[in-house]
Amino acid sequence: MSTIEKPLLEVSDLVVAYGTRREPTPVLHGVSLQVGAGECLGLVGESGSGKSTLGKAVLGLVPVASGTITFDGRDITHAKGRDRRELAADIQVVFQDPYGSLDPLMTVGDILAEPLATAGTGRAEAKAAVGEMLDRVRLPKNVLDRYPREFSGGQRQRIAIARALVRRPRLIICDEPVSALDLTTQATILELLIELQRDSGVSYLFVSHDLGVVRRVCHRVAVMYRGDLVETGDGEQITNDPQHAYSRRLLMASPVADPVLQAERREAWLALRAEQAA
Ligand SMILES: Nc1ncnc2c1ncn2[C@@H]1O[C@H](COP(=O)(O)OP(=O)(O)O)[C@@H](O)[C@H]1O
Ligand SMILES: [Mg+2]
Repeated sequence: MSTIEKPLLEVSDLVVAYGTRREPTPVLHGVSLQVGAGECLGLVGESGSGKSTLGKAVLGLVPVASGTITFDGRDITHAKGRDRRELAADIQVVFQDPYGSLDPLMTVGDILAEPLATAGTGRAEAKAAVGEMLDRVRLPKNVLDRYPREFSGGQRQRIAIARALVRRPRLIICDEPVSALDLTTQATILELLIELQRDSGVSYLFVSHDLGVVRRVCHRVAVMYRGDLVETGDGEQITNDPQHAYSRRLLMASPVADPVLQAERREAWLALRAEQAA
């Protein structure tokens, strides 16, 4: 994999295990990747391959057994307490299910202002920042007094994106951000993420089981298989000419909006499976 001269995020030989100390089950077996400033790195792989675990390790939500995670040159592998809280200014997350991550009892206005209140931002400044974020994710001002349940999945994801961006982080972990949405809504949310990145220079670590989605937003793609990276490269190259049999399979399994292309991919996938079984 080509290395970036000054990566914003650098993960080196990362090992994460679940289970007990005496009986650990390793889930990441020494994963290394880099995300540059303003870059979108796609992390793809089938369900259970360890993608979310990697995102959680960067966010400090699971303990790291060995290896290092650096952010802007600083070792954050085991950051805790105050250090970890301060990192929230720079590293944010958008999950698949915004309904689960948005407090149903809070108004959208409070949801968006909360990260700023936590950071000690004054009310007037926070109000202005929230208003600007609404414009950027194209939600009208009248959403502020409403509750998450009043919105569609796509609108809720806009709210979650606005919340992630409101402190102007430098990196957002996007964990399957469009996987719960229908194809048309997926496309508009992906367009929005691309535009926000272009305007703000934020980096994305974009986790998805769908290579078709990743290919639309990401500059480079890392392919994960059972806790190991099997291929990293240019998004176009991996989707047009995957080197690894597993990447090929993932590509063919990814749903596409075009039914003809989808049928072709499905046929090719079945043929490959039959070939492997023979
Ligand atoms: N909290 C947990 N405790 C034990 N095992 C877990 C936990 N979270 C995930 N796993 C296991 O770790 C593996 C990787 O999971 P995950 O990172 O969620 O994969 P992905 O996001 O690629 O679907 C899976 O086998 C999953 O069952
Ligand atoms: Mg996951």
